[in-house]
Amino acid sequence: MIGTIVCVDDQAEVRRLLGDVFRARGSNVVSFDDGEDAIQWLGANDADLVILDLDLGPGRRTGIEICRAVRGRLPNLPIIILTGHGTIDDAVAAVKAGAVDFITKDPYLEDKLEISVEKVERILQHALDRKRLEEENRELRATNERLRKAAGRRWAIVGDSQQMRTVMTKIEKVAPVPRPVLVLGPRGTGKELVARAIHMLSTRASEPFITINCAAVPESLLESELFGHEEGAFTGATKQKEGKFELADGGTLFLDEIGNMSMDFQAKILRVLEYQRFERVAGSESIQVNVRVIAATNADLKIAMAEGKFRPDLYDRLAFEEIHLPPLAQRIEDVPILATYFLARFRQEVAGITVKEISAEAFDRLSQYNYPGNVRELKNVVERAVYMAQGEVLSGLDIDTALPPEANGTAPAAGMMFDDDSRLPLPERVDAFEEWLCRDALERTRYKQKEAAALLGITYDQFRQRYRKYALGKD
Ligand SMILES: Nc1ncnc2c1ncn2[C@@H]1O[C@H](COP(=O)(O)OP(=O)(O)OP(=O)(O)O)[C@@H](O)[C@H]1O
Ligand SMILES: [Mg+2]
Repeated sequence: MIGTIVCVDDQAEVRRLLGDVFRARGSNVVSFDDGEDAIQWLGANDADLVILDLDLGPGRRTGIEICRAVRGRLPNLPIIILTGHGTIDDAVAAVKAGAVDFITKDPYLEDKLEISVEKVERILQHALDRKRLEEENRELRATNERLRKAAGRRWAIVGDSQQMRTVMTKIEKVAPVPRPVLVLGPRGTGKELVARAIHMLSTRASEPFITINCAAVPESLLESELFGHEEGAFTGATKQKEGKFELADGGTLFLDEIGNMSMDFQAKILRVLEYQRFERVAGSESIQVNVRVIAATNADLKIAMAEGKFRPDLYDRLAFEEIHLPPLAQRIEDVPILATYFLARFRQEVAGITVKEISAEAFDRLSQYNYPGNVRELKNVVERAVYMAQGEVLSGLDIDTALPPEANGTAPAAGMMFDDDSRLPLPERVDAFEEWLCRDALERTRYKQKEAAALLGITYDQFRQRYRKYALGKD
């Protein structure tokens, strides 16, 4: 046991005895003959427990008075009173003054102390546990605060990992350079966010940022979308229309999902990139623009080029600078800061959210999943957990409920349910699956049956029935 015990007694032999006993048990003991000295010391030092004599000698403040004074300043510091006579009156007075317990000091103090050691240590342990918990809570709150602050910086691109720092440095460097940028990464990793950040940090920030999702528009329309058309260019083209390149003049055009364009179309894009010049569909006038292009794709362009599906010359042109966004699973250390950021944003966006903080356990659970949908999926998980949760602190269980079922590593092997058992009649297979779900819920809730029932979305009674049916109490 560690911790610091303050002993206040006017009898030197009592001080020595207490000091010997508790030092031998690993605590730090500081002794005072007078209560005033102890109060002064406590004002400047940290203690975990006070053992205080009731009668501190003639002409001095009594232990009760000292006890009251200490309580007034340090309400959480436990105080044990030592009494000479052990009368009920003394005990009542001690408790009224705020002592947590008292020990009778009689001629056999030494023997008594043996019995009381346990009591003292129990109280000390309690004080230490409480202090540790408070410390942990304080740390967690500080972490939450730090994460929230950090999340507000950097044009809302959030990330602590080395990979994201490299990305941010690249963004800052390339932003003012009027050349194309190619942003690569799997779905939901923040490619569009990066494109916007580059625009925001460029000298074009006050000019338009125009986006087009090249995969969402059929190629027959893509040309008119990008370059515009003249009146009567095709059926339905009743008016002249400006294309995205014109709209983005002076600013930035974000060509999203460029991986699937035909080779012919790629040649057209290449020409515009080179000469910043094009004609509207069915137009003859050559239009000159000044557009910064940022392109993104989740396709592997190296493979596409090897397969003859992407033009190497377009690639060379676009990839003046390449920014790679790694999957979230490769930068799991970004999960806490992202989760904190998404919680803060969600609270701004939606009224009546009770959750203010994320517990350490919830951070743990969030960090154990591998996020095939990357940051977008994490955002969804956090938001789902937050709006379903009841308290102010998001728990591990809240996260478990929000994660997709396959997030739990102990999911039954497909084989178990669909192959080996497939010769069994359906009701038995259903039972087997139900039993598995109940056991899983118990494990996830550390065998708290009420919570397991809640996790499964059934009543406690319904859960109890299954508990008996499958003998879940036994392994
Ligand atoms: N580093 C990040 N910091 C903050 N939010 C992020 C970050 N990365 C992604 N997001 C958020 O995740 C979501 C998906 O990001 P975004 O749309 O930019 O991804 P994407 O790579 O373009 O995805 P897709 O390939 O599916 O189009 C958005 O809500 C975005 O704000
Ligand atoms: Mg995108």
